[in-house]
Amino acid sequence: PTGLLQDHWGRPLHDLRISVTDRCNFRCRYCMPKEVFDKDYAYLPHSSLLSFEEITRLARVFAAHGVRKIRLTGGEPLLRKNLETLIAQLAKLRTFDGQPLELTLTTNATLLARKAQALKDAGLNRVTVSLDGLDDEVFRRMNDVDFPVSDVLHGIETAQAVGLSNIKVNMVVKRGSNDDQILPMARHFRGTGVTLRFIEYMDVGATNGWCMDEVLPSAQVLERLQAELPLVPLAPSVRGETAERWGYANAQGLNDPALGEVGFISSVTHAFCGDCNRARLSTEGKLYLCLFASQGWDLRTLLRSSASDEELAAAIAPIWQQRDDRYSQLRSEMPADAPAPAAGGRRIEMSYIGG
Ligand code: GTP
Ligand code: 5AD
Ligand code: SF4
Ligand code: SF4
Repeated sequence: PTGLLQDHWGRPLHDLRISVTDRCNFRCRYCMPKEVFDKDYAYLPHSSLLSFEEITRLARVFAAHGVRKIRLTGGEPLLRKNLETLIAQLAKLRTFDGQPLELTLTTNATLLARKAQALKDAGLNRVTVSLDGLDDEVFRRMNDVDFPVSDVLHGIETAQAVGLSNIKVNMVVKRGSNDDQILPMARHFRGTGVTLRFIEYMDVGATNGWCMDEVLPSAQVLERLQAELPLVPLAPSVRGETAERWGYANAQGLNDPALGEVGFISSVTHAFCGDCNRARLSTEGKLYLCLFASQGWDLRTLLRSSASDEELAAAIAPIWQQRDDRYSQLRSEMPADAPAPAAGGRRIEMSYIGG
């Protein structure tokens, strides 16, 4: 029952994003606003989390179906105890054609300096760090907690020092909140080997009070950058990539690889559903086919039954094959002030599915 899968629109299954906890030590306003995620918020109880063995078993089945890249997310994935043990288990898996999987992690980096070496030793290939500004005041305004930016920068530097390659920094841009950090962030990371990516603030979840006024379109971010730091467009590196790539240019107007590149993730102004090859697995073992989904497919019950790997694989295949999700694309075909496309229930939260 295994084999390469394509969905209703011919999109292959390539990435599996696994959320390992729904908890986080930040309270980013666009993701886990304090008023909702307070001390009474009902996080998942430990018994409902997938164990490392269960995650690894599912990942093996997904790899046999064509998955090549696994990204661990949260909440904040480094809050899950002994995460390196899971990474070591995942590092033993192979794709359908016998290659190692690409293993990566999205983190806020508060625990990264402490964990980077163990993660690298366990077989992690890359990390992506979320950082919304260089100024402590702005940083605090975005995440509503009290960590210095220097902790995050130290985490990034440690990750580079232990040999985690191709490090990326994700900056969610909110007009009027942190858009004054666009240039300082670009100046800071230019030429360091770290790729900075600007993310349009998205209407994900149901708690962040999203409105279009707070979205700064990527085209405007690019314009602000170009005024000081010339950039040239780069070709996509793989099909289905979330980010559009631009490289820093030298005095001749040509891309200088030593200066590095930036990326734009523009799901609001330029939907990229056409090539979306990402499946998402929640902390409690539900499979989601879109970041904006309201319903997932329970795989945990099957995992905890006597089902064999073959039966698991046979259950997963038709879920992907019937997938027709393309939320951002439908959204962008509607007027900006129209209600969101019918979702059939309350949308999942970003902290639950990890972005
Ligand atoms: P690489 O290309 O491997 O670096 O990773 P990625 O861009 O797939 O993953 P990352 O976690 O860095 O994603 C960055 C951000 O892009 C996420 O936090 C989301 O905000 C957004 N994003 C990622 N995947 C999707 C998607 O499928 N749909 C939408 N609308 N946004 C996405
Ligand atoms: N819009 C855009 N990006 C978001 N993220 C979380 N919430 C949103 C949102 N509403 C991003 C974070 C991080 C990743 C986990 O998801 O910045 O990079
Ligand atoms: Fe935590 Fe990331 Fe959500 Fe911020 S965006 S609250 S760091 S999970
Ligand atoms: Fe994929 Fe859904 Fe994002 Fe479109 S909106 S790119 S289908 S996750």
